[in-house]
Amino acid sequence: MLLHIPRILGAQELSQARRLLQRAAWVDGRSTSGEQAALAKNNEQLAEASEENRALQQLVLAGLERSPEFFAATLPKQISPPLANRYSGAHNTFGNHVDSAVRFLRNGAGRVRTDISCTLFLSSPEDYEGGELVVEDTFGKQRVKLAAGDAVVYPGTSVHRVEPVTRGARLACFFWVQSMVRSDEQRRLLYDMDLHLRQLRTRIGDEDPAVIGLTATYHNLLRQWIDL
Ligand code: NI
Repeated sequence: MLLHIPRILGAQELSQARRLLQRAAWVDGRSTSGEQAALAKNNEQLAEASEENRALQQLVLAGLERSPEFFAATLPKQISPPLANRYSGAHNTFGNHVDSAVRFLRNGAGRVRTDISCTLFLSSPEDYEGGELVVEDTFGKQRVKLAAGDAVVYPGTSVHRVEPVTRGARLACFFWVQSMVRSDEQRRLLYDMDLHLRQLRTRIGDEDPAVIGLTATYHNLLRQWIDL
C-alpha cells in the first residue's frame, strides 16, 4: 500500500526544520546504505550524530505522533530515528534500489525491521525540478512529489528511486517503520476498515449498533494479526 499522508508538519515547523538544515553539516549519503544501494546513491545526508539532526528528529517524531492517519496506516511498533537528505548540484539522484531489510540503530540502540519506508518532503515542489520518488509496486510505477510537510509511506519491499534533481534542492526526511502488523496485505485491510469506520461514525454516530459491531471486528482482527 502506497499512501499519501498530508500535513505531518505545519508551516511553523517547516521553517524551523529548514533553518536547522541551513546551518547543518552535510555528509555523503552512502554512509548509511547497504552495498547495492550505495552503488546507486548520490546524495547528501545530515550527519546522524549532529545537534541539528537530533532537533529535526524530535520535530518529525512529534508530527508523526499527532497524526491519526499515520498511525492507522503503519500501526508502528518502532520507528527508526528520521534522517534528512538533500538532492542538489552534483549530488542529485538515487537510482533503483531496495532498502535493507534491517536498520541497525546507532550505538547498538537496537534494530528496526523495515516493513514500511517513509519520506517526508521538506521542500516545496516548486523549489526544485525533478526529484520525484518513483516506487515500483504491483500496481505499476507511482511517481511521488508532495507538498512540503506531507509524507508518503510505501512497502519496504518495493524497488524505488529518486529521479535526478536538475534545478534547486530537494530536502526531505526519511525513516522506516517496523509495524505491529508485518503483512502489507493485512495492514491494508485494517487501514481500509479503519478509514471507512471513521467515515461511518461521522455519518451515523458512535453509538449505532452496526458501528459498535464493526469496531469490535476491527479490534478482533487486529488481535489476531498483531505482533507486540
Ligand atoms: Ni531507499
